[in-house]
Amino acid sequence: MTKPNVFVTRHLPDAALDMLRQACDLEIWPDELPPPYDTLKAKAATVDGLLTLLSDQIDQELLHSAPQLRVVSQCAVGYDNIDVAAATAAHIPVGHTPGVLTDTTADFAFALLMAAARRIEEAARYVHAGKWRTWGPTLLMGQDVWGATLGIIGMGRIGQAMARRGRGFNMRVLYTDAVPVPNDAGAAYTPLDNLLAQADFVSLHVPLTPETHHLIDRRALKLMKSSAVLINTARGPVVDPQALYAALAAGEIAYAALDVTDPEPIPPDDPLLTLANCLIVPHIASSSVRTRTKMAVMAAENLLAGLAGKPLPYCVNPAVYNTAED
Ligand code: DGY
Repeated sequence: MTKPNVFVTRHLPDAALDMLRQACDLEIWPDELPPPYDTLKAKAATVDGLLTLLSDQIDQELLHSAPQLRVVSQCAVGYDNIDVAAATAAHIPVGHTPGVLTDTTADFAFALLMAAARRIEEAARYVHAGKWRTWGPTLLMGQDVWGATLGIIGMGRIGQAMARRGRGFNMRVLYTDAVPVPNDAGAAYTPLDNLLAQADFVSLHVPLTPETHHLIDRRALKLMKSSAVLINTARGPVVDPQALYAALAAGEIAYAALDVTDPEPIPPDDPLLTLANCLIVPHIASSSVRTRTKMAVMAAENLLAGLAGKPLPYCVNPAVYNTAED
């Protein structure tokens, strides 16, 4: 029996690729950079399954030119790079990897919070530059984390995990979301503007949607304290980068710690990179060996289920199973 054809858009941990090799004819894009859109579209036109990353654009045009495609499996929890409505209309289930990266991502968001509060990057640069000459009574004084107010925007799985970390550090935790979310972290619901005005640390945990695009804009930044820190491990476009640059440069907020940028990767001449009060790392919040391996295995499970005509264990568009074939 011929095996289904699958295109995997980047090299993944072997545990996942081994699962796929047993059941599929695999082609793995060999480069570190994503396949160009036209290449991806040409590959999609000939395969039964696609295993994608968040840097692959899966739009209506690509889906329409993929007559055999039976499943798109994304190796990430976020899927704003995929036109899910178009996939549903084309009866193609889309998989993702929820849950498995929650604590790893929250750990990293909290690490960014700590790094910002205690000036860790700046302090390391100071030592490397040979400037450390003695114990200084006012040297590199930072902000206390304990006793400070953490404001969480988006109280989903990762937001709640961040709230628990905040409580563990004796912070007061506020959150905002579309509606109050029962949570075990003792976090108090408050409207967005109040959270922005009260928080010492604002951490973003919303998905990227038309509603959250540039949620943190000039107006939002102006509501924040001049001593406040913004942490973004969600998606770059949730923050208006020009407004953020203006706020940081003018000292309207104190610091930003960003795991995600708009665009990604951030161009080397982006003005945000000129600022000493902006820490930027390359979208690695979920990047622990264990978690990235689990994500890849979940993505393989989704892909294999889709190819076998079974419901995906972690499906973004379960409505696909209710729609009759056209
Ligand atoms: C996701 O999964 O959406 C993260 O941004 C990458 O791990």
